[in-house]
Amino acid sequence: MSPALTIRPYSEGALTQAAAKLRAGELVAFPTETVYGLGADATNDDAVAGIFAAKQRPSFNPLISHFPDRDAASQHAVFDARADKLADAFWPGALTLVLPKRDDSTVSHLTTAGLPSIAVRVPAHDMARALLRAVGRPIAAPSANRSGRISPTTAAHVAASLGNAIGMILDGGPCGVGLESTVIDLTTDQVVMLRPGGITRDQVAEVLGCDVVMAETDDNAPKSPGMLTSHYAPGLPVRLNADAPDQKKYGHEILLAFGDCVTKGFDKVLWLSKTGDDREAAANLFAKLHEADQPRFDGIAIAPIPDTGLGLAINDRMKRASAPRALHPTP
Ligand code: TXA
Ligand code: MG
Repeated sequence: MSPALTIRPYSEGALTQAAAKLRAGELVAFPTETVYGLGADATNDDAVAGIFAAKQRPSFNPLISHFPDRDAASQHAVFDARADKLADAFWPGALTLVLPKRDDSTVSHLTTAGLPSIAVRVPAHDMARALLRAVGRPIAAPSANRSGRISPTTAAHVAASLGNAIGMILDGGPCGVGLESTVIDLTTDQVVMLRPGGITRDQVAEVLGCDVVMAETDDNAPKSPGMLTSHYAPGLPVRLNADAPDQKKYGHEILLAFGDCVTKGFDKVLWLSKTGDDREAAANLFAKLHEADQPRFDGIAIAPIPDTGLGLAINDRMKRASAPRALHPTP
């Protein structure tokens, strides 16, 4: 059911309302210095699933978690000396750091797409930071536009693109140039620019006193060794559209179940959604994959999931997870 859209100019009251909605798991679009973000409580799987549903993204990419300051970000990410230097130089600002995710981080597996890393950013926008402070939780926020549309720099852009899918826009006027933040990956010894943006490669290199490597943007190109893989893959082999167990062929499998699928004969069953709800399944996907990925099983079987709604993104993600990998040759 689409909520009625409220567009409120920034005020104390609007801020309080927006923060309450975010804490309740609803979506709120808000301004940053780069583009309007489509915000959701990053610790709430169901709220984050709502982002993908609203954007109609056919796949799950990891999302940036937004914080009011570095202290808040450091509750969820491990900062090394390089990260500290970049945060000193560019935060608040249009720089996102991909860092190891802390073991005790409460940010959901869906926000980070199952990865052991987390993208963190402190926006240079007073209203955004006031909102983040008022919510008191990390906020996942991709640009507030439907997949494939231009990046939104006004509340009207957001309303035109997402108006029937979200409940509230916090209107802070036009917000910058529509160029999203620069994304820098610091999870390896190399410094890798994953996405160019307002802060340049030279600026980053100068602060760190080292080279900045550009990530290969072509997803099909082989990644150089040490380059971060931006997709989580379980250690166990993954089998799609598993409509029956077959121990001879696949060994002892754990099933990720959906709707009225066959569960009998599998070694263990974890539910993505008992009622066959695509959004619930999306919210559970990465957490259940992690839970299933235990060496005592031979493989993870995924029940058939219809290619409708978020089912498309779930199947896209599972196809990547089931692609043959060098470490796990298919039987
Ligand atoms: O300017 C911006 O950054 C805007 C405003 C709203 O803050 N936000 C934004 O968020 O563009 P989002 O979630 O769409 O950005 C996602 C980018 C993608 O390039 C994604 O691949 C990368 O960040 N990313 C996020 N988490 C990652 C991770 N753990 N590892 C690698 N890349 C990650
Ligand atoms: Mg975007």
